[in-house]
Amino acid sequence: MGNDLIQITSTADTPQEQVGAGLRPAPTGSCEKAVTFFIETFGCAMNVHDSEKVAGTLVARGYRAVDSHAEADLILYNTCSIREKAAGKVFSYLGTLKKAFRNNPKIIGVLGCVAQQEGEAIFERAPQVSLVCGSASYTRLPDLLEEIEHGNRRVMGLDLDTDECFETELTRRDNPFRAYLTIVEGCDQRCAFCVVPYTRGPERSRPSDKILDECRRLAGEGYGEIQLLGQIVNAWKDPSSARLTFAELLGRVAEIPGVRRVRFTTSHPRYFTPDIVEAIDSHPALCEQVHLPVQSGSSAVLARMLRGYTREQYLEKIDCIRRARRAISISTDIIVGFCGETQEDFEQTMSLLDAVQYDQVFSFKYSPRPNTAAGSIEDSVPEEVKAARLAALQERQRQIQIGTNQALVGQVFEVLAESFQPRLGQVVGRTSSNRIVNFPGTPGEVGQYLTVRATSAGPNSLVGEKL
Ligand code: SAH
Ligand code: F3S
Repeated sequence: MGNDLIQITSTADTPQEQVGAGLRPAPTGSCEKAVTFFIETFGCAMNVHDSEKVAGTLVARGYRAVDSHAEADLILYNTCSIREKAAGKVFSYLGTLKKAFRNNPKIIGVLGCVAQQEGEAIFERAPQVSLVCGSASYTRLPDLLEEIEHGNRRVMGLDLDTDECFETELTRRDNPFRAYLTIVEGCDQRCAFCVVPYTRGPERSRPSDKILDECRRLAGEGYGEIQLLGQIVNAWKDPSSARLTFAELLGRVAEIPGVRRVRFTTSHPRYFTPDIVEAIDSHPALCEQVHLPVQSGSSAVLARMLRGYTREQYLEKIDCIRRARRAISISTDIIVGFCGETQEDFEQTMSLLDAVQYDQVFSFKYSPRPNTAAGSIEDSVPEEVKAARLAALQERQRQIQIGTNQALVGQVFEVLAESFQPRLGQVVGRTSSNRIVNFPGTPGEVGQYLTVRATSAGPNSLVGEKL
């Protein structure tokens, strides 16, 4: 959901008693030090989950996760290239690493979307890099690591034509309550602004039986919340003979004993069908939350973006969600300043905010990307106009959220306590509708589902008290 830059780091795992000589993990049972690794992640939930898959692959080979660059033999940088700013960070980051570890060089790998996009050019610009691997090639990581272990210092995995999906048994999940699970990889949509189809490859769906087996295993391991992921999660098509629809799959996951919450992201309006809303209405474990990126409120801009729907068709989907028995929260992604966007087009996006009353909006200035259909068209909206539109949009949305959140004061929610802030003595929890609620509590409550009444509200979160 929303590609706001988030940064996570790998955390230390149970130490493995395995040997390392350079980057050569040795057989179990040896008493030498294990090869250590550190992964830094930028980008969306898919990237966060990819890092968990990579970490799992490394741990299975005898590597050990550590908490800092300094302790690591192998540093992996999982990158995002959705906007130029995100992509540009990679080379400055690599330069910083080079300086910091001049006297103690590390093995460095670049993963993810920038790896896929820049490919071999990364070795030219940053010769200290040894591994370049795009997300569609993570199934090849064991082979690539083996090459590095044998001393090869220029190793690449950039296949996009793979139809394999990553075997999730090796995944090492960072969040103790929420398990991410990719059900469909890649994207075939080719929105005019988006680099994802070029960095993550064609759409491939996992069969329903494998997904359901994995969800049962995760529930058995104590993950109460499962978040199904896909660039277009609702474009998932069951390749197995069961031929479940996406809405049926949601229902089946929600019925698994031990599963308390199911979320799914990101939905594309074109594939958003009424049976998804019916599934949410009839399965309490399906969260009251839909992320439905609109990108623009102007049908003319939507057509140039190649989104495949008009403003009116999008608003029909919103009506369908609003007619549900449950109060489903709706969030979206918006791009301002796409090529040729007029002030009138932008006003239509502003009026869409008023019409929909979103609970959350992730908004971005248009950034031209290589290989995309719009990348070769003039980026015609000046930077200062983009900045002014973004600020106006964010302010309008802030006012809307103050109103919608205020209206929730006095209501009672089931909240999953996700973390504790010792300085404030507060628990940070999340409602089924994905709202953050802060309330007085204890560290021992983290992981529990609690009943909380909202006592006040700001634009981005609620304050509450336990009942
Ligand atoms: N389906 C994906 C979308 C990935 S991109 C998902 O999981 O969310 C996330 C958001 O980044 C998009 O919805 C869009 O609003 C924004 N975005 C994508 N390409 C962009 C670009 N070139 N410039 C600005 N924003 C962009
Ligand atoms: Fe990108 Fe459009 Fe696919 S935003 S991820 S090409 S649905």
